[in-house]
Amino acid sequence: MPKPIRWALIGSGNIAARFAADFAHVQGAELVGVLSRRESAAREFAARFALPGVYPSLEALLADDIQAVYLATPHTEHPVHALACLEAGIAVLSEKPAAPNLPMLDQVLDTAERRGVLYMEAMKSAFYPLYRRIKALLAEGAIGEVNFVNAGFAYNAGNRDHHVFNPMLAGGSLLDVAIYSAFLACDLLGAPRQVKALLEIGPTGVDEMAVLSCRHERGMASLFSALNSTSDGRAVIGGSAGHIVIEGRWWNPRRAQLVSATGSSLTLEADFTGGGLCHETQHFTDLLHAGQGRSDILSFELSRAMIQTLDMARADAGLRFPFET
Ligand SMILES: NC(=O)c1ccc[n+]([C@@H]2O[C@H](COP(=O)([O-])OP(=O)(O)OC[C@H]3O[C@@H](n4cnc5c(N)ncnc54)[C@H](OP(=O)(O)O)[C@@H]3O)[C@@H](O)[C@H]2O)c1
Repeated sequence: MPKPIRWALIGSGNIAARFAADFAHVQGAELVGVLSRRESAAREFAARFALPGVYPSLEALLADDIQAVYLATPHTEHPVHALACLEAGIAVLSEKPAAPNLPMLDQVLDTAERRGVLYMEAMKSAFYPLYRRIKALLAEGAIGEVNFVNAGFAYNAGNRDHHVFNPMLAGGSLLDVAIYSAFLACDLLGAPRQVKALLEIGPTGVDEMAVLSCRHERGMASLFSALNSTSDGRAVIGGSAGHIVIEGRWWNPRRAQLVSATGSSLTLEADFTGGGLCHETQHFTDLLHAGQGRSDILSFELSRAMIQTLDMARADAGLRFPFET
């Protein structure tokens, strides 16, 4: 039995708790410590999930005997911590979006290349069993040539005090949730070539609703996102010989319908384990055990295409973050 991969996490909020809860389902790994700006929050988190370590500083984390870090902080912090961990030779699984824009992401990816350290954006949807099954069916030509995606993610984020409404922290529906739909479009249709965007800007200066029309290498996509609305969460993947409807919250997929051009329909079902985050964590852990430097499921090219789609949307609508010169 190889020694377990020792993981630490940075951030102790909502997704950090979901990650830690799901860790029980990951084989060949142990979660050994947590870092948060507020040490009291880290202590509470460590007690809640029975973690042995609380780091008083980033330096203390970097000096520990760990092989992997999961970044669970607001978007703008991701590249900062990724660069520090990669320079220290520690593999990084970064929450989405991996960085607020393409130049900031490129800095991280270039550092991962230069240091030869594993890095991956935690786009969980890519790793769900049903999505893997859909990808296999699409590769077999189940709906012919895939050429259209219609997907969105809209939810009511509530109080505008939350960091998703803070432009200094790269808030807005695009980076918070349109990144999921950008993943689906880029994974199935390739990199974006043209993006037209209508954005509704709220009182804090971030986009609270977005509707995007995108041309990709191999087709077109119609995407939407919102922090002040809701939707049923379905996604449609169109092809020359049929289509697939992923039902419910397509980003946590469980059930889909494959409809052929002749009208016959097939129900696709596959459950996920725990809260669903363990699938990406297992993949990342397995890559480390195998000594592999890159994920072929969530590649650097795919991460680049995803954030490029959102950069192009913001450029089209004339929206910049205050920290972008
Ligand atoms: N994959 C998914 O399903 C999913 C779901 C939700 C969110 N996310 C992503 O996960 C990231 C974190 O989101 P979250 O919902 O977990 O947020 P959250 O609940 O607000 O937690 C943020 C964490 O980051 C720390 N932090 C560090 N710098 C901060 C700053 N400048 N402002 C506020 N907090 C800061 C906070 O602890 P301290 O104050 O102690 O530092 C806190 O533990 C986001 O990038 C988001 O896109 C992913």
